[in-house]
Parts: sequence; C-alpha cells; structure tokens
Amino acid sequence: MASISCKIATFSFLLISIFLSISIIKVCEAQARPPTAKGLSYTFYDKRCPKLESIVRTELKKVFKKDIAQAAGLLRLHFHDCFVQGCDGSVLLDGSASGPSEKDAPPNLTLRAEAFKIIEKLRGLLEKSCGRVVSCSDITALAARDAVFLSGGPDYKIPLGRRDGLTFASRQVTLDNLPPPSSNTTTILNSLATKNLDPTDVVSLSGGHTIGISHCNSFTNRLYPTQDPVMDKTFGKNLRLTCPTNTTTNTTVLDIRSPNTFDNKYYVDLMNRQGLFTSDQDLYTDKRTKGIVTSFAVNQSLFFEKFVFAMLKMGQLSVLTENQGEIRANCSVRNVNNKSFLTSVVENVAREFIEM
Ligand code: HEM
Repeated sequence: MASISCKIATFSFLLISIFLSISIIKVCEAQARPPTAKGLSYTFYDKRCPKLESIVRTELKKVFKKDIAQAAGLLRLHFHDCFVQGCDGSVLLDGSASGPSEKDAPPNLTLRAEAFKIIEKLRGLLEKSCGRVVSCSDITALAARDAVFLSGGPDYKIPLGRRDGLTFASRQVTLDNLPPPSSNTTTILNSLATKNLDPTDVVSLSGGHTIGISHCNSFTNRLYPTQDPVMDKTFGKNLRLTCPTNTTTNTTVLDIRSPNTFDNKYYVDLMNRQGLFTSDQDLYTDKRTKGIVTSFAVNQSLFFEKFVFAMLKMGQLSVLTENQGEIRANCSVRNVNNKSFLTSVVENVAREFIEM
C-alpha cells in the first residue's frame, strides 16, 4: 500500500516538474521577444496572404542557391530602411524631380542594386498570389529574416503589418541616422541609444557583419597613412594588398573566418584584432562592450538569442501601421505617382468602414 502511494507521489511529482519546466520554457520564450508595436502582429497575414512566408522563403532559397552573397545585401537593406525614418520602405523609393532620395545618400550608395530587384520580384509574386496586400517594408523585413536563416543563422517569427511610407528622408537625415564605420564605440552606443537600443543590442546587431563585403574606402582610414595599431599586423598587410591606395574600388569580406555563413565568427575576428571597421573593432576595446563580444565569441547560441531579440527591436522602429502609409504597387515609387493611388485610397476608406 505504502509503495503504491509512494509511486503515485513520485508520478505526481514528475508530472508537476514537467508542467513547471514547460511553463518556465514558455515564459523564457515569451521573454525572448521585445514588446510588439501597436498594429503589428504575428498572425497579420494568416487570412490576408496565407502563403506569404512560404512564397518568400522558396524564392529566396532559389536566389541564394545561385548567389549566397545576396543574403548580406538583403540584411543590410532592412537595417538601412529601419534606421532612417523607421521600417517604412523609404529606402526603396527612387528620387524624383523634387530631389534626390534616401537611396542617393552616401551610406546607401553601396547597397546592392540586386537587393532592390529581389524585393520587387517578391512583391510581384505576392501580388499574384494574394492581391496587393503585402507592404514593401514587410517584404524587406521578411527577406532579412530569411537571409539570416538561409545563411546558417537562427530562424524566428517576426511581427508583420508594416505599411509603406509616403516620403523619404533627406541626405542629411540619412547621414545623421547611419553612423559611419570610422565611429568609435561611444559614438555608436550614443547613436543607437536614440533608437532605444542598448549595448547588448548594439553588439548583437553588429554581428550582422558575419556575412557580406565592404569596399576599401570604408576602412582605408585604418590603413593609410599608417596602420591602426589595434589591427592585427598580418591582417592589415593583406588588406593593404587588396586596397593598395585609399581610392581603390576593390572589396573584401567582413568576416575572414566564414564570410558567407551567419555564425559567431565575427566576434572571434574581433578578439583576434581582425575586425574590419573601427566601429567593429572598438567593441572589443571599449570596456562597456568587450565582455559582450567575448560572451558571443564563446557561445553562438547566446549570440543567436540576443541577435533575434535586437532584430525584433530594430524591425519595429517607428513602423507605420493600420491607416498610416500605403501598400505600394511598386516598391520604388509611392502610389500617388502612379495610377494605383486611387485604389489605395478606396482600400483605406473600405478598411476604416469595416473596422468601424
Ligand atoms: C552599427 C553601425 C554599423 C555600421 C557603422 C555599419 C557599416 C557598414 C559598412 C561601411 C559596410 C560596407 C559598405 C561598403 O563599403 O560596401 C557594411 C556592410 C554590411 N552591413 Fe553594416 N554597419 C552597421 C550596422 C549593421 C547592422 C545593424 C546590420 C544588420 C543587422 C549590418 C549589416 C551589414 C551587412 C550584411 C553588410 C554587407 C553588405 C553586402 O555584402 O552587401 N550592419 N556595414
């Protein structure tokens, strides 16, 4: 009799433990996401465009199979969209007679032309499947998420429902919001703090430099007239071979250990003084960020977890939702400039009517 009640007690204890563990995991999962911006949701297109995520992923798998370098271009495009005027697709807009666009501002001149084409191709595929319901800013956010996953990084859900902006930022506003690679950690921390990004977010997001390339002029300030003493000697010597003068247009990889794989090797580079930009390398010199760099270099899962968190924060910066903005009929032109404007107005009025 005593042994039966003992077994029941053990069994109950086990059940309670399992239940508690599941609850704790659930709480941890919940904590691993920053708050969701008003108007965005994780189920936004479930009814409006149920195949959205599979269409984007299938197309990007094809693109990256041909050229994995495009993944880096798409990740950077989302970053440049979000940091300037929020994630509103403004970086995608072409300039007009009224002036040059955000696209034409210096930091955006090295965005890949192909990245813009990929976003527009995705938009066309989605319009065919669901009508014009998915915004260019959501497509850019999804493409960045898939770029990370399909090059070896973590997979994660992102909240959707962004709307496309009607304006683009000026050259000066673009420059003010995208710090140059010659910035030290103080400048980067101060700049990103204005976007509510803390030092862990800053170090995590800089890990985006685990894939992709840079042109010489983004780092020749560290090579000429003399080599930055913080830079590893051999690394610098090889960079001078790639960039023989401070005006060459050559390129080199951002992460020498695994340039096309989304992993934590970027942080290992920094610990070996092989970071390309001052903004990267100084993260390992500054005492506020050094420990975070080390913790990511020795623990890839920790980096992935913090990167996802920071990307979710970045991806929701000043988003337009609900009745704001529009759903563009062409990612590089706002609707007022083409015939789709009227449809957009009618759509907005209809939506407001349904929601009343
Ligand atoms: C923290 C401040 C940052 C600075 C100063 C910075 C600067 C730069 C520069 C100068 C380049 C090379 C441009 C060129 O010469 O071609 C670059 C490339 C890149 N950046 Fe950043 N970046 C920053 C943050 C980020 C963030 C937050 C992400 C994404 C999460 C990111 C992702 C990338 C990627 C993927 C590339 C390679 C692009 C390609 O291969 O086409 N960067 N960045």
